[in-house]
Amino acid sequence: ESSVLSVKELMKNHKITVPESYLRLDQEPPNPLNGTHVPASIPTFDLESLLSKEDKEFQLEKLHAICKEWGIFQLVNHGVSSSLLAKLKHDMLEFYELPMEEKMKYKIKPDDVEGYGAVARSDGKLDWGDRVYMITNPIQRRKSHLLPELPSSLRKTLESYFLELQKLALKLLGLVMGKALNIESKEIEEIFEDGTQSVRMNYYPPCPKPEVVMGLTPHSDATAITILHQVNGVDGLEIKKDGVWIPARILPNALVVNVGDILEIMSNGVYRSVEHRATVNSVKERISIAFFVGPKFDAQVGPLTSLINPDNPPLFRRVLMEEYVKTFFSRKLNGKSHLEYMKIEIA
Ligand code: SIN
Ligand code: FE2
Repeated sequence: ESSVLSVKELMKNHKITVPESYLRLDQEPPNPLNGTHVPASIPTFDLESLLSKEDKEFQLEKLHAICKEWGIFQLVNHGVSSSLLAKLKHDMLEFYELPMEEKMKYKIKPDDVEGYGAVARSDGKLDWGDRVYMITNPIQRRKSHLLPELPSSLRKTLESYFLELQKLALKLLGLVMGKALNIESKEIEEIFEDGTQSVRMNYYPPCPKPEVVMGLTPHSDATAITILHQVNGVDGLEIKKDGVWIPARILPNALVVNVGDILEIMSNGVYRSVEHRATVNSVKERISIAFFVGPKFDAQVGPLTSLINPDNPPLFRRVLMEEYVKTFFSRKLNGKSHLEYMKIEIA
């Protein structure tokens, strides 16, 4: 029933009422940016601040504190060139403007999660957005009808972008795990070298009633870290902090970095995998791209052994990454979040 493939298309057909399957009255409405009580936005971290010898220790402490308290920050001076980001914006906009028949080549197949379109949630509800999700590493897991078949300009831009972001992700993992958790860089490399990688490109059309829909339902990411870019500079991300939804106001060209479930697990609960969601607005379309980085398939997902001792028992179980991904995509978690599922029950 709920197989409307594209919200963008839906809106083209002059619909002014929001169809039932998109109504999310169970969700808290977006926190209005112009409301009387707008809580602080997410913290900012400057990657170049680490270049200064005098300041480095202090800045690493700051990064550690941010990952503990917030699990999310916007990264400035990240080294990803603004010309690459501009190209990405151009190519993604062009992609979403393609005729529907073109985009249908990438549509999600039955029982798959990769591809173009939307997947109905278990309650039959749909998010207000058209997305393309693809696994991009290991290379042999790439689906032949997805990345290799994208318009060549977009494909090339994405490939450069993946290289840049993978480097950045490993650098960040090295910083937060290496310094703050005292993990040897060799151990980090063993886990993440040629690790899993996937990407989700999001297109959220304006909605006549933004307060009754969800761009992306609240969740935490199952990855180690995620790097999100607001491609056309429109805000919409919200994070939950101390029980309150906080709108993230993002600086132009900053990258949003968030701790995922795997980093929470590996750090044995020191870092927080932040709950977040995407809201939409009535005026502007919003385009974003989320880049997900995780361990390689034959690495263990579990609290790092060097952190565990009698005073600090493991809070999560240990499974192979391959297994972790499988249980995540299967619907056999009995409604529990994946992180809950990994938790060791303490009697
Ligand atoms: C977004 O802010 O558009 C997406 C957030 C996410 O991928 O969770
Ligand atoms: Fe997310």
